[in-house]
Amino acid sequence: MNPLIQTAPPAIGGSFVRIDGALKVSGGASYTSDKNFPGMLYAVPVGATIASGRITRLDTTVAAGMPGVRAIFTRDNIGPFFRVGAGSNAIIDEHRPPFDDDLIRYYGQYVALVVADTFEQATAAADAVALTYAAQTPDVSMQLTAGQPPSIDTQRGNAAAAFTAATDPFKLDATYTTPVETHNPIELHATVAVYDGTVFTLYETSQAVVNHKAVLVQMLGVPPEHVRVITEYLGSGFGGKLWPWTHSLLAAAAARNLKRPIKLVISRKMMFQNVGHRSNTQQRIRLSADADGRFSSLQHDYLNHVSRTDVRKENCGEVSGYLYSSPNVHVAWSYARKDIAPNTSMRGPGATPGLFALESAVDELALKLKMDPVALRLLNEPALDESLNLPFSSRHLPECLQQGAQRFGWAQRNPEVGSMRRDGLVLGWGMAACAWNARRTAAQASVQMYADGTARVASATQDIGTGTYTVLAQMVSSATGLPLSKIKVALGDTAFPPGPFSGGSVATGSMVPAVLDAAHDALQQILAIAAHTDRSPFAGQAIENLAFGDGMIYRKGMPAATGVPFGKVLQAAQVGVVTGTAQVAASGSEPGGAKVSMHSFGAHFVEVTWQPEIARLRVSRVVTVIDGGKIINPRTGRNQIEGAIIMGIGMALFEETHYDARNGAPLNSNLADYMMTTHADAPTQIDVSFLDYPDLALNALGARGIGEIGIAGLAPAVTAAVYHATGIRVRDLPVKIEDLLASQVTA
Ligand code: MOS
Repeated sequence: MNPLIQTAPPAIGGSFVRIDGALKVSGGASYTSDKNFPGMLYAVPVGATIASGRITRLDTTVAAGMPGVRAIFTRDNIGPFFRVGAGSNAIIDEHRPPFDDDLIRYYGQYVALVVADTFEQATAAADAVALTYAAQTPDVSMQLTAGQPPSIDTQRGNAAAAFTAATDPFKLDATYTTPVETHNPIELHATVAVYDGTVFTLYETSQAVVNHKAVLVQMLGVPPEHVRVITEYLGSGFGGKLWPWTHSLLAAAAARNLKRPIKLVISRKMMFQNVGHRSNTQQRIRLSADADGRFSSLQHDYLNHVSRTDVRKENCGEVSGYLYSSPNVHVAWSYARKDIAPNTSMRGPGATPGLFALESAVDELALKLKMDPVALRLLNEPALDESLNLPFSSRHLPECLQQGAQRFGWAQRNPEVGSMRRDGLVLGWGMAACAWNARRTAAQASVQMYADGTARVASATQDIGTGTYTVLAQMVSSATGLPLSKIKVALGDTAFPPGPFSGGSVATGSMVPAVLDAAHDALQQILAIAAHTDRSPFAGQAIENLAFGDGMIYRKGMPAATGVPFGKVLQAAQVGVVTGTAQVAASGSEPGGAKVSMHSFGAHFVEVTWQPEIARLRVSRVVTVIDGGKIINPRTGRNQIEGAIIMGIGMALFEETHYDARNGAPLNSNLADYMMTTHADAPTQIDVSFLDYPDLALNALGARGIGEIGIAGLAPAVTAAVYHATGIRVRDLPVKIEDLLASQVTA
């Protein structure tokens, strides 16, 4: 037992170590691809090597005769798949079932599935499946032209007129782009499918087991009782594992057809082809200000690419309606189709690329106005959410800006480009604000209280690696007074009460009321047992006179320590377990809808170093202040923000998926050629602090999820710092050394 677990009260706000940490570092945590079953076979998909066209011949003769091959499934023999019905709330980004027709819409689209005794045999045979195509030249260019009229996200006043009326230098018209980014969690997507003749048990790498089941039920065409989805541990996902991808259906069908367990682990290359990515975006910002710097108008017009089969919006305008005060706002979206696989959510979807554009524009306008960028933001702080005309539940952006500036030493900044030096390096200092929505989804949980004095909480949510196991134990601890060592947490199984997806920063905030209410329900049952059992020390007492605290039942008005451990009372009553349950609706679902606007906020301050002699740029220091509600666990919380900052540096400087114009293939589809922030690229100093204001409109603890807010706004803070160091404004991510070679700043 880790001694730290028992010695860090309070339950809420204590920096507990992860309760699953020891299992993970010792190899005791069993991930999906660790699952093995007797008689299990290995499945490897065959991917198309064109991005647009039609299959003219698919020949499995050679492959079928290779060693160990048990079956090769194609459109002809895989059996039926169905679609998610219109109006269903089951979510999938690629609606087309696998093998649905002979058309190819993107490079790597699965066209066959080889099943063999070993992974190596299946891989070899998959390579031997012969395909010929009638191919067309794909369009995978990153130039986006709207294929249809824009739809309006939010608007007020007359932004176009106000912008036209404004004069230089009080206006800015600039276009920003962000590239395709690919999720690269260490754990590959995998499905291990077991079929018993009736029930599919699918071990999945899923950020949302409840939705995964809902989709598979529909696409397999079976009743809900016949699909169970399990994700006990997840090697992260960053949004790429939120919704099911087609390999899961292929594995399930193979298990059904062969009556054998099937393991399907996709390759890193397939991670770039078949399981989503952050769409590229093209965003035009028109921003104007009055003479004193107050924003007179904001127009945010943006596009993202989508696949041939599905339309998924990259919601870049999400924060533009409410981040700043302005009487005239217009935010609109459109899209362009490309011969690229369906796009999906990636950490902070929409707002993260959106804030790159918006916050870059605010920085550029501050320069034109010769105003400090912190002061400009403080000046434009709104009194309420002007897009919804609702008060904010808890908004402390000015304090984030002020505290961040102070911790960073912003007052020492000389705004002149290339003017600041340290140890022979040019320093660049930049900053940006950020926001991310806060909400609760519907959630259920059960809490068991056992006669041995321990407790358990169960919910079909998952721990993506963020610390969900730990914070749920803390919630139970806060409700029962039990130490974490006596609390088990059971997650990631659709056999448990339905819980939220691990995405959108919703899991923690959604689970708070479900766990607290389920615990309360269990405690009330225990008090009733205490009062109504002859052999109980509290027999004959009125329940209203009894209380529960520190794991004890005691008389109200007396100290908890004078009571009796609840396990003793259950033993006296010969009750083994008490189960409390709770079912909580989504936020905003009350009659009349939402009464407040709920978001997290933050500010990033970034220092880069620039060596003009060798064109070497590094992020040396980041100071981030987050208004993320009550932080249940500052240790896991800080870890989330630090990781998001590292990923944000990747967005600013490194990450970009390139496509081959000839065949539409993702070119840098491996961890050597797809650049991400490594240890050597990470800043030596990352200073994260939380304001810790409870958002009591969200739940009784005031806790929000904080998995995404840390990446929002980081990239524009980096490019603002790059400008300050080099005089080069990069509007197209990622920043490349080639961009900076024109810098006039000298050593
Ligand atoms: Mo996150 S993109 O909601 O996993």
